[in-house]
Amino acid sequence: MLADSTPATQPSGSAGQPLVRLDGIVAGYGAFDVLQAVDLTVRDGELLGVIGHNGAGKSTLLKVIAGFLPPRSGRVVSGADGRGLRVGLVPQGHAVFTKMTVAENLQVPELAARRGAPLIPVDEIHDMFPILRDRSTQAAGNLSGGEQRMLSIGMALRLGPELLLLDEPSLGLAPLLVKQIMEAVDEHRRQHGYTVLIVEQNLDVLLTRADRLVAIRQGAIVWDGRPADVEDIRGLWEHF
Ligand SMILES: Nc1ncnc2c1ncn2[C@@H]1O[C@H](COP(=O)(O)OP(=O)(O)OP(=O)(O)O)[C@@H](O)[C@H]1O
Ligand SMILES: [Mg+2]
Repeated sequence: MLADSTPATQPSGSAGQPLVRLDGIVAGYGAFDVLQAVDLTVRDGELLGVIGHNGAGKSTLLKVIAGFLPPRSGRVVSGADGRGLRVGLVPQGHAVFTKMTVAENLQVPELAARRGAPLIPVDEIHDMFPILRDRSTQAAGNLSGGEQRMLSIGMALRLGPELLLLDEPSLGLAPLLVKQIMEAVDEHRRQHGYTVLIVEQNLDVLLTRADRLVAIRQGAIVWDGRPADVEDIRGLWEHF
């Protein structure tokens, strides 16, 4: 009983141990380095926001964390003792299979899952985004931009990620829809206790929800702090 109890020193709602640690990450494409010696720790249970302009290296950072882009130097330590993590990446834009139905899209993760992986039931995704239940038999390409965003988040969640990476979830969506999607994700992660990293250009998406904010500029982390210190962030933002 003692062995699996939560340490009393960790206040509820606060982030825990390091889940992913990036040490001196240099990564890029061809001869071009995008990330310039990035050090970053993502803590267990936190909602970390990364803010940066176009081309700052946000998507590149997510690709490195997800293991899709090997760094040129530095190292990524994932999970306790570096044993690795289940990571769900929701890519930028409309990342769905447009000719397949909504239901088929939600089945795709089953094909990708490792044997014995803890899949999240489709019903749970439907409860999160009820519109997907109503649109089950429609081709995903016929969904609105917001519905496609919900579907791509649902696909990533089916794999039961310990770390969910969201690449600009607000892009091209009306503020009310963004709020609805963010609330659904926030509620779901609180139920399941997974960690979320969101990259955005839209600071307002992160201000009220992120536990911690990091700003990235030209491939380097230039600010790391709490959303409560927003005056600093706004000042910094203007000088980008
Ligand atoms: N596959 C690629 N091949 C070559 N260069 C790339 C590739 N992907 C991105 N880049 C370049 O790397 C830099 C950083 O790109 P990245 O996509 O990480 O930026 P970002 O912060 O996500 O920008 P945005 O907000 O526009 O999505 C840019 O200059 C971009 O042109
Ligand atoms: Mg990007």
